[in-house]
Amino acid sequence: MRQRKPLVVANWKMNGSFDLVQQMSAALSVLTQPLPDILICPPVILLPHFPKHPNYLLGAQNVSEQLAGAFTGEISADMLRAAAASYVIVGHSERRTLYGEQDAVISQKVKVAIDSGLTPILCVGESLVQREEEKTLQVLARQLDAVYAAQPHLLAHSVVSYEPIWAIGTGRTATPEQAQQVHQFIRQHLAQYDAQAANELRIIYGGSVTAANCEALFAEADIDGALIGGASLKVADFSAICTMAKDS
Ligand code: PGA
Repeated sequence: MRQRKPLVVANWKMNGSFDLVQQMSAALSVLTQPLPDILICPPVILLPHFPKHPNYLLGAQNVSEQLAGAFTGEISADMLRAAAASYVIVGHSERRTLYGEQDAVISQKVKVAIDSGLTPILCVGESLVQREEEKTLQVLARQLDAVYAAQPHLLAHSVVSYEPIWAIGTGRTATPEQAQQVHQFIRQHLAQYDAQAANELRIIYGGSVTAANCEALFAEADIDGALIGGASLKVADFSAICTMAKDS
């Protein structure tokens, strides 16, 4: 029996609608326990439209590293909490590559999130070029150390999501073996900071996860769930993935 409760995250990115909120919440509400922790991260403007239900939690896709003030367009961790979010995705590769987020700001976001009572889901992952140059583990170590080397106490309050950039939105998934190898590396690497927290840490996988390929991923020892983009917009597919995760 796995001691870490699986976590299945829907990252809607800049997609979704009031209709999808209704359909998704209705579908998830009728799933029967036991379930994994199910987390929906829609665009923040949709958060207040989700009816409260014990079958799912809500989260955001980004947070400001600042607490409050003159930061046009930003949303604070406290505001997310007030909007019923309990988790926040931090350092997604789309934020890193399209919006220039660097390790230092990502590290600050993780800290601010935890200080406000949010659980950050730290995304790490290598590009195709980095993988081909066999730099995957080096890149991941850098991304992880940027957050936890100076602040090891944050580990016990985090989730890590391994998301190879070459697998995001491409239909190309890491094989379960490839993903397991990296997840195991992440857990071992983080054990230097806090062995117990690393053992209890949920490390989830992201990158073209579907109802068809999730079962094999969930069967791996160090894969504790998934972060899902495209398939999280399809109500039947996402519900099916959640149902399969409960048995992993
Ligand atoms: P995808 O997105 O499932 O559409 O590949 C995953 C992600 O953003 O991590």
